[in-house]
Order: sequence, then C-alpha cells, then structure tokens
Amino acid sequence: MRRTACLVALATLLALAACGEKKEEAKVPEGPLEVLGLKTVAAFSAIADPAERSAALFGEMAKVIAHPRCLNCHPRGDTPTQGESMRPHEPPVARGANGHGPPGMMCSTCHGATNVAFAGSPGSIPGHPHWGLAPLEMAWAGVPAAEICAQIKDPSRNGGRTLEALVEHMGKDSLVGWGWEPGEGRAPAPGDQATFGALVAAWVETGAHCPAP
Ligand code: HEC
Ligand code: HEC
Repeated sequence: MRRTACLVALATLLALAACGEKKEEAKVPEGPLEVLGLKTVAAFSAIADPAERSAALFGEMAKVIAHPRCLNCHPRGDTPTQGESMRPHEPPVARGANGHGPPGMMCSTCHGATNVAFAGSPGSIPGHPHWGLAPLEMAWAGVPAAEICAQIKDPSRNGGRTLEALVEHMGKDSLVGWGWEPGEGRAPAPGDQATFGALVAAWVETGAHCPAP
C-alpha cells in the first residue's frame, strides 16, 4: 500500500519535472538575462524578427569565440599564442602536419591530459587529451565576426559539420569546454559552456544568420 503511494508520488514528481523541462523550450525563455558576463538566449527574446535575432545571437556568441582562450588555439599562422595578450607561444612551437606539433616537439610533450599547476610559481600548463592547433581554415584571430560566422557554417571549412553537429560541438565538446576550465592563472571565457551552447542552438534555430560585415 505504502509502496503504491510512493510510486504515485514518484510518477507525479516525474511528470512535474517533465513539465518543467517543456517550459524551458517555450518561446520566451525564462531565467537570468546574463550569466558570468555572457547574455543568455532570454536577453534576445525582445527582438521580434528571427533573422535580426539570429544575427544578434551570433554577436553574443562572438564574445566567446573571440576570447583569447579560443583564439590562442585558432591563430592565423602556424604558431599558437598564449596569455591574455595572445603573445607568441614560448618556447616557439610549430603546428606540424596535423596541428599536434612536429615529431619530437609534439604538443603532448608538454601538454598533458589535464591542466597542471606549475610547481613553486603561480600559473599552470594547460592540458587536454586532444591538445592541438585548430586547422588553418578555422583561423579566427583578427578575423571579423561576420567572416568567422560564414566560416563556421561552411562544411568545407568547419570539419564537415552540419549546423546540428556545430551545436553539439560548441555546447558539449570538452576541448571547447576547456575555455571555461583553463587552469590557474588564466581567465575563463565569458559565461559557461551551457549558456554558450544554448546561444548556438538558438542561433541555428533562427536560421543561423550572420551579423552585417
Ligand atoms: C616545450 C613545451 C611545450 C610544447 C611542445 C607546447 N607547449 Fe603550449 N605551452 C607550454 C607552456 C609551459 C604553456 C604555459 C605558458 C604560461 O602560461 O606561462 C603553454 C601554453 C599554451 C597555450 C596558451 C593557452 C592560453 O590560453 O593561454 C596554448 C594555446 C598552447 N600552449 C598551445 C600549444 C600547441 C597547440 C602546441 C603544439 C603545436 C604546444 N602548445 C606545444 C609548453 C609547450
Ligand atoms: C587547445 C586548442 C583549442 C582550444 C583552446 C580551442 N579550440 Fe576549437 N578547435 C581546436 C582544434 C584542434 C579543432 C579542429 C578539430 C575538430 O574539428 O574537431 C577545433 C575546432 C573548433 C570548431 C569546429 C570548426 C569550426 O571552426 O567551425 C569550433 C566551432 C571550435 N573549435 C570552437 C572553439 C571555441 C568556442 C573555443 C573556446 C571556448 C575553442 N574552440 C578553443 C583546438 C582548440
């Protein structure tokens, strides 16, 4: 008897939880307008025209994309950059054939699977299992947002990704996620990956329009 009551209670809770989820997908998103310096999708709901809203959403995404945490690995040349000023990587390293460094000076020689704090001095060496430079066709440093937008949508320059795959990559990929867990001595990208991922999803849903050049 008591067990039945519990099951009923549980089913009610699950139903309530499901309702809660549905609500989040509703047209006018609820919740904060900003998370850690990044505007949320809700902050754009006042823009009635979908194409205009889409371009504005990309403008907000660009705050993350153009952050040094991303640009240091998406440079226009063959050398990573580092720090907030995006100075050339010290020691000098080259991208090598596949972005993971030439034989003998692979990124993984120094960059491990996780961030490691320097022993005895402030700061850390960043790490991730797939640490490497983004291919040249994905170079973003010094590139205007409208051009980055066009590149990101172009399967011949985005690693063959559909828009859906892009949403998944930006919102879930752990190398992208490193931008918010960059290790001691580095400022994280604005917002968090979930807020950023939601912006990307809303940008795609509204037609993936780009800001005017
Ligand atoms: C000889 C060791 C060594 C090699 C090889 C190396 N790195 Fe580094 N890298 C470092 C160290 C040490 C730092 C941290 C510097 C600091 O913050 O003081 C660093 C920092 C970075 C940063 C800065 C992150 C940020 O946002 O500040 C990037 C990006 C980076 N490395 C990319 C690469 C890539 C890509 C490769 C391979 C092509 C590579 N590194 C190869 C030692 C190395
Ligand atoms: C350690 C270096 C590194 C960092 C840091 C990094 N990326 Fe990348 N990124 C790569 C590599 C390597 C690829 C290519 C691999 C692939 O396509 O999966 C890539 C590909 C991408 C792509 C898909 C291709 C495209 O241009 O459309 C996106 C989107 C992306 N990165 C977003 C980001 C964002 C956003 C950040 C910062 C929050 C970031 N990345 C930080 C190395 C990095």
